[in-house]
Amino acid sequence: MNIKCVIVCLLIYFFSFIYASNIEYDGYVHINLRHALVSSESPVFTDRGNITIQSLRTGSSTIQQKALSQSDKIKLRDLSAANKFYQLKSIVTASDGSQVSFVSTIKACMLVESELSDILSVSLDYSGKVITVTLAVASTSTCEGATVPIDKLKEFTTSVFVRHTENGPVPDTATYIQKLEREREAKERGEVKDNRSFLAKYWMYIVPVIIIMVLSSAANPDGAGGAAR
Ligand SMILES: *[C@@H]1O[C@H](CO)[C@@H](O)[C@H](O)[C@H]1NC(C)=O
Repeated sequence: MNIKCVIVCLLIYFFSFIYASNIEYDGYVHINLRHALVSSESPVFTDRGNITIQSLRTGSSTIQQKALSQSDKIKLRDLSAANKFYQLKSIVTASDGSQVSFVSTIKACMLVESELSDILSVSLDYSGKVITVTLAVASTSTCEGATVPIDKLKEFTTSVFVRHTENGPVPDTATYIQKLEREREAKERGEVKDNRSFLAKYWMYIVPVIIIMVLSSAANPDGAGGAAR
């Protein structure tokens, strides 16, 4: 019993510490976006633009992206027609100067059919470090084979989302302690509780029996008296 209490208290302390540390950081991050518009074993990434997230806490960001050149538009259309993947490399520079890069891929036709409207999710761990950057498109989730005029592939319209690591399911320690307490009390009370529940359960059988006994004992004295007379 005591050991259980100690473990539960340690767990409560541990989870409250994680929760507190989750909201204490802030900082900025710079992301250089580079993309590969030709399907290849060793893709060549060219500059697409830059994102600056000024505050990881609020997720406010600014984006500068180049308009696609005519040759890039054709490369992207061809990539889509060949049902190949569009690859995006995100080179993340944190406020302490550390650099890490992530590659995210989607079907080129999805990007083309959404007319270059995409979503970039930047996920953070508990300390505010970027752990992934993933690309998705805003509208369709499947390639429907729609033909998109090439002049619609001019500029990226990108939404940036900063995702904070969510707390895992926190054990419901208070309820667990209450349950242990109730079980202990029930054990101490022992048979008292059982008797009550027996009466509660079987009253509908016991009451008619009592009524019959009362009625028959009320009828019997008369009969007995009549017989004695
Ligand atoms: C993004 O930043 C890099 C250097 O950090 C620069 O060379 C490039 O021109 C920038 N791209 C855009 C679209 O501003």
